[in-house]
Amino acid sequence: MMLETAKRLVTPSARSAVPAFMVMDVMAAAARIEASGGHVVHMEVGQPAASAPARAIAAARAALAAGRLGYTEALGIPSLRARIARHYAERYAIEIDPARIVVTTGSSAAFVMAFLALFDPGDRIAVAVPGYPPYRHILTALGCQPVLIETTQASRWAITPDLLIAAHRRAPLQGVLVASPANPTGTMMTAEAIGDLLTATQAEGIRFISDEIYHGLDYAFAAETAARLSGDAIVINSFSKYFCMTGWRVGWMVLPAALVRPVERLQGNLAISVPALSQIAAQAAFDGRDELEAVKHVYEVNRRLLLDGLPKAGLDRILPVDGAFYLYADVSRFSSDSFAFAKQMLEEAHVAATPGIDFDPVNGNSFVRFCYAGPTADMHEAVARITKWLGAGTR
Ligand SMILES: Cc1ncc(COP(=O)(O)O)c(C=O)c1O
Repeated sequence: MMLETAKRLVTPSARSAVPAFMVMDVMAAAARIEASGGHVVHMEVGQPAASAPARAIAAARAALAAGRLGYTEALGIPSLRARIARHYAERYAIEIDPARIVVTTGSSAAFVMAFLALFDPGDRIAVAVPGYPPYRHILTALGCQPVLIETTQASRWAITPDLLIAAHRRAPLQGVLVASPANPTGTMMTAEAIGDLLTATQAEGIRFISDEIYHGLDYAFAAETAARLSGDAIVINSFSKYFCMTGWRVGWMVLPAALVRPVERLQGNLAISVPALSQIAAQAAFDGRDELEAVKHVYEVNRRLLLDGLPKAGLDRILPVDGAFYLYADVSRFSSDSFAFAKQMLEEAHVAATPGIDFDPVNGNSFVRFCYAGPTADMHEAVARITKWLGAGTR
């Protein structure tokens, strides 16, 4: 009896039972191979190999040397919010009032705050599959219901107005979240596709959230921001990807004016503020444009190399590789279990990639995601190893 009561004290909540990322298992298996002397080509983790721009690191050093780092304003340091607004003028030629910009602890915290500010428990929010798993897991943890919209080649792997409205007619939706460029596919929505979807949401009163974390990493055509198309859209972005600052944990949101105060209250209570050091570094990162463009150039070279090499190795069914640093390859010719395929590729070819089942509970067993944010030499090595492995016919 006593034991039962004691157990209850440490029993986790039902809402905390979100699935773990399978990529973590791949990383652990890769680490075991490396511990026994193997050399693994890492293409499983979605982060830049490059470090933050030198200007960002110098600004952080100077701030540390100056001494005290206190809390900042809940919405972020005003000069950083103004610099982000200027970024919209420079990159997209649009004017955004700095008062609508909120600095967040990576885009990850932006999702939590946007969902809390927009939705109530039980609300239904459409997300694309394949898609970034934390969207659905954060929604679930907050008591909302992610509604998975299966995308296909016919919709260019994006949620279309038809798909959205069909789901909305089955049961009303309160929101939709899109990402362009997307993870895990790297595919992008055209400006027209985003505009059409936005128009459909406005007609139906569905809130529109745009994850623009991979903006800046576009190769096929220029990424469009939802901020240009509507002042009602919630835009989420981050310093993690283009700016090479994953570990600094800093991102931002562009909000409709009416949501700024609710988010300020939420952030003040949930976090007080984003780490001051990271905000200072992030502001300086905007001055590291040359360095960041050089990193992007490496991704472009890597992308071309894989697009030439992987089809020759047998992986010739790849979703449009428009942006980000991912390539999503159909492996169904070789396996109906993407986790087993990734595990075998890791063990036998020493190339680590992420099973599609992490991103798509419906068709993910047919796909594997490769991240090409590493050094170009690694991409050459990966193509050579995969060619040899698949060519050996052990699959
Ligand atoms: C599509 C997408 N959105 C958001 C994130 C979260 O990034 P961060 O919290 O570092 O901004 C990631 C990270 O991989 C991602 O791929």
